[in-house]
Amino acid sequence: MSQKMFLHVDLDAFYASVEQLDNPNYRGKPVIVGGSFEDKRSVVSTASYEARKFGVHSAMPIFMARKLCPNGIYLPVRMKRYMQKSEEVMQIFKNYSPDVQQISIDEAFIDITGTERLFGPPTQTAIKLKEDVKKNAGLTISVGLAGTKYVAKIASELKKPDGLFIVPFGNEQEFMMNIPLERLFGVGKKTLEKLHSKGFSTTQQIYNVRLDLLQSMFGKSCGEFLFNAVRGIEYENFNNEPKSRSISSETTFIYDLTDVWTIETKILELCHSVMFRARRENLSSKTVSLKIRYDDFSTISVQETSETNILSIEELFDRAKNLFQKKYDNKKGIRLLGISMQNVKNDIGDEPVLFDELIDKRQKKIEEAIIALEKKSPNAKVFKARLLEDNFGSDNFSPRK
Ligand code: TTP
Ligand code: MG
Repeated sequence: MSQKMFLHVDLDAFYASVEQLDNPNYRGKPVIVGGSFEDKRSVVSTASYEARKFGVHSAMPIFMARKLCPNGIYLPVRMKRYMQKSEEVMQIFKNYSPDVQQISIDEAFIDITGTERLFGPPTQTAIKLKEDVKKNAGLTISVGLAGTKYVAKIASELKKPDGLFIVPFGNEQEFMMNIPLERLFGVGKKTLEKLHSKGFSTTQQIYNVRLDLLQSMFGKSCGEFLFNAVRGIEYENFNNEPKSRSISSETTFIYDLTDVWTIETKILELCHSVMFRARRENLSSKTVSLKIRYDDFSTISVQETSETNILSIEELFDRAKNLFQKKYDNKKGIRLLGISMQNVKNDIGDEPVLFDELIDKRQKKIEEAIIALEKKSPNAKVFKARLLEDNFGSDNFSPRK
């Protein structure tokens, strides 16, 4: 069996880069995408690298960003457009391997084990992929290449933007021993503070401690996570979608979320992403699942199955929000949110009446027109973009209207 090789790919300043792609005037300028600045609670979704120089970052309140970067270009979230671009890029990834695991709207793992004969050595594949995405989707990506997903994920962050970081086979352990604790994916502010308070300042120090001791110091799940992490092994199978059985999307936040309005907006964005993919592939499901990871590393996963298929973003959001409201422990901050539709089936066609009854007719028509258009002419982007913006602008849940 050949040595496992994974690429982890993450688009750079994703929402902001799409805005810069669509509006040449915004290129090279500080672009901040997020909710309204009239609303005190709204936060930055992302900032272009030009804006990051001013200290602006995801999850920062918009009013604070305005103070740091008064001349920035402030734009509302255009979720549908980002989803189109996400889809486009994921399609490109699929040309490089049959095993593409989409993790969130802008990142994926690509298993390139054994693709050498087709694309050349892994490094060449990574370079080719970067060029391909730039040329055909107009966006830059950062890529990490390594023998495990966890190491590839960390590597892709190290040379952002437009980066490529290769961890040669056999060097994973050495790589992990040189990673600062803040870079350990999954370690948030709280865990970092705990690590420091117990005298840990390097991955090597964690590596030297036995699993049971780590567990007694940090709790069962966090201890196990740390034990695996410093060995370059993922704590869990990264949102592994059992092939074509579920569609999921999750986001890890760089700052813990505590505000319910913000959390629900994020859940809505995840629902958009999941539903968009389901509709595109004519898949439906009766089961929605919500995953929450708190700042103390405890993780809950809840799911609920209804009698009928979930057929619209609103419906998915309602159900996900319900689950959230039932399970949310508001004494803790949230580090990760994930939404998935489980046991998806290609059975929408079998329920024409139900489908018509449940889904907003206007939205259904537009969604179908777009999907039909895309199937017929994948290059009809301008028309598609107009269709989406004109018709979804008023109900795209963007907090800024
Ligand atoms: P990220 O990949 O975390 O961030 P990014 O692509 O903007 O920047 P980079 O990868 O170069 O560091 O998230 C992808 C998108 O998800 C991001 O463009 C906007 C959205 N997002 C939020 O809405 N809120 C958040 O807190 C984060 C982290 C991301
Ligand atoms: Mg990104």
